[in-house]
Amino acid sequence: MAVDNFEEKINILEKEAKEAINQTLDLAPLEKTRIKYLGRKGEFNNLIKELPKMPEKSKAHIGHRLNSVRNDLETLIDEKLHQLRDKIIEEKLRNEGVDVSRPGRGLSLGHLHPLTKVERRIEDIFQSMGFSIVFGPEIESEYYNFNTLNIPPDHPARDMQDTFWLKDFRSKNPKQNRLLRTHTSPMQVRYMEKNNPPLRIIVPGRVYRYEATDASHEIQFHQIEGLMVSKSISLANLKAVFEEFLKKFFSAKGGKIEVRFRPGYFPFVEPGIEVDIKLGFSPKWLEVAGAGMVHPKVFEAAGYIPGEWQGFAFGLGLERLTMLCYGINDIRLFYSSDFRFLRQF
Ligand code: PHE
Repeated sequence: MAVDNFEEKINILEKEAKEAINQTLDLAPLEKTRIKYLGRKGEFNNLIKELPKMPEKSKAHIGHRLNSVRNDLETLIDEKLHQLRDKIIEEKLRNEGVDVSRPGRGLSLGHLHPLTKVERRIEDIFQSMGFSIVFGPEIESEYYNFNTLNIPPDHPARDMQDTFWLKDFRSKNPKQNRLLRTHTSPMQVRYMEKNNPPLRIIVPGRVYRYEATDASHEIQFHQIEGLMVSKSISLANLKAVFEEFLKKFFSAKGGKIEVRFRPGYFPFVEPGIEVDIKLGFSPKWLEVAGAGMVHPKVFEAAGYIPGEWQGFAFGLGLERLTMLCYGINDIRLFYSSDFRFLRQF
């Protein structure tokens, strides 16, 4: 091929390629054009393969020309690429515009279970009266659950609390024999063993009883144990603390609340009482707690010298109080995981 022809060929290819690039409207065809002209097997490489056939004196000049055309085309393609990308983004923004004045979609937040809410309120009230909050194990030994609380093995009171025993830990030794605690009272002795009086604690927690369920009985429920010990605690202190607590607890309900102490029997208190309350709007007395003065045998089990100390203890039913608070009539609703119920609190 003559030099003139070759140069003419370069000119034609250059013109053709530039037109093709200019006319391209989208990214994919642009890439096609690039491959067609500048690709490994593209038009320009085909021309370069011809270069060795050119006369020696023209090679440098033609080589230069080829390079500069290729650089031009690369620059053009690059510019076009940016143009097209900008255009695409602009179009997208135009079509998918964000309306900043549009109201947002509300997030649905979870919230605390009604039992947790009431438990925290109870804790706050007792804390404001100087009580500390402590927790104990739900898997308890027979020893703490019964023996230390003046409930010996053959005592009829053990039948009062139908118990879930842990099969794998069955033992003749009450310290090893395990059960699901039937009340929070075992923490009385556990705490007194490790702490010196005077003391004021509450123990919120889950307890278990092996019994048939109905609207007011569950096999699993919560108690809040209270214990106050000093040299001169009397039943009057129990009454004052309890009344103060109930007054604060039901203050939101307005109206008046009456508190009544009835004799009751629990082996670990003497005298033992049951606490009933009557809310202004209801004609009924309702039992909310067992209580009494700590029995000397319990002090003894904890290693205190019985004659030296006096104390009161109580066990509040958390479910019962929560039901009163919100007007809930079936204890089983608490554990039903039914959103229609839970969303109301
Ligand atoms: N533990 C008792 C029960 O479960 C309640 C109670 C606690 C009674 C403390 C007296 C003193 O019924």
